[in-house]
Amino acid sequence: MVQTIVSGIRPTGNLHLGNYYGTIISFLKMQKKEYNCYFFIADLHSLTTHTDPKILYSNVRNVISECIACGLDHEKVVIYVQSDIPEITQLYLLLNMLAPISELKKTVSFKEKIRKNPDNINAGLFTYPVLMASDILILNADYVPVGEDQKQHLELTRNYASRFNSRYNVKFFKQPTCILNNEKLIKIPGLDGSQKMGKSDKNCIYLIDRHEIVEKKIRSAITDNGPIGENTPKTKCIKNLFAILQAVSSPDVFAYYDNLWVTGATKWYSDLKGQLVEDIVKVTDPICKRINDIRDNDAFLCKVIKDGAEKAREIAKKTLRKVKELMGFKYF
Ligand code: TRP
Repeated sequence: MVQTIVSGIRPTGNLHLGNYYGTIISFLKMQKKEYNCYFFIADLHSLTTHTDPKILYSNVRNVISECIACGLDHEKVVIYVQSDIPEITQLYLLLNMLAPISELKKTVSFKEKIRKNPDNINAGLFTYPVLMASDILILNADYVPVGEDQKQHLELTRNYASRFNSRYNVKFFKQPTCILNNEKLIKIPGLDGSQKMGKSDKNCIYLIDRHEIVEKKIRSAITDNGPIGENTPKTKCIKNLFAILQAVSSPDVFAYYDNLWVTGATKWYSDLKGQLVEDIVKVTDPICKRINDIRDNDAFLCKVIKDGAEKAREIAKKTLRKVKELMGFKYF
C-alpha cells in the first residue's frame, strides 16, 4: 500500500533560506517518490501567536506561492490550508480527552513560547501538540518530516494514537514515524552569529530578497578579525557564513575559502561575502521571479487551495466518521 506523508508549515512570514534548505528541499525529494504527499499551511497553529487577520491572510497566500515557486508540485502533492478542513478541529476536540495535562506541561516548545510571550499564554498554545496530532492522525500518516524542534510533538502524537487504540480496543491509528529533516541537510544559521536562521530581518535572507538586499545583509553580517593562526577552530560567526557557503556554493568554492581559513590568510572576508552574495542570488533569483508570477495569479492560487481542500477532506471525513463511530457517536 502507498504510504502517506504529511507535513505542515506555519504561515508566520515569508520563507527564508533556512526554510528552503531545512524543510522545502526534503519535501521536494519526497514528492518524486511513491508516496501520498500532503503539505499544508498551518494557519490555526499560527493563531496561537500571530492574530492579525490581514497579515494572516496574506502570509498564507505568500507561503503557498513560495512553496510552489520552490518546486512543490500541486499535481503530485495535495496542498491545502489547515482551517479549510473542519474535521481537523473536530478530531482535535476528541483527542484532547486523550491528552493528560501533565504531559502537555512538559512540552519544551510550550515552555519556550510562554517565556518569549508571557503576556499571551493562551490555551491554544498549551494544546498546540494536540492540534498537530490531529493534522497527522486525520490522514493516518505513516511519515512526518519535521525539524528537530518538532520531535517531541510527534512523540505526543504517537501517544494519543496508541491511547486511542487501547481505550477503544482497536488497531485504528497507525504510529506515525518522524523523519528528521535536518539530519542530512544543512542547517542554515543566522547572519547575526545565532545558531538558527529565524524570521528577523537582521539574521535571515528571504527567498524574495532582491540582489541589493542580499548584498546589504551579507555585507553587514558579523565577522571577526580573521584567523589568528594556522588551523585554528572557526569562530561562531565565521562558521555560520561557511555553513551558508556550503549550502549555496560548489564544493571547490567552499574548499578554496576553507583553505584560506586553514592557512591563516588574512583580508579575504570581503571576497567571501561577495561570493556568498553571488551564489545566494543564483539560488533565490529564479525562485523569486516565480513567486511574483504565482502570487499575481489569483485564479490559479484559489484553484490550488480549493482543490487541495477537497482532496484532503475526502480522507479526513472518512477518518472522523470512523473515529466517532468507534467512540460511540452514531445515533442515527
Ligand atoms: N508545528 C510545526 C512547526 O511549527 C508545523 C506543523 C503543524 C506541522 N502541524 C503539523 C508539521 C503536522 C508536521 C505535521 O514547524
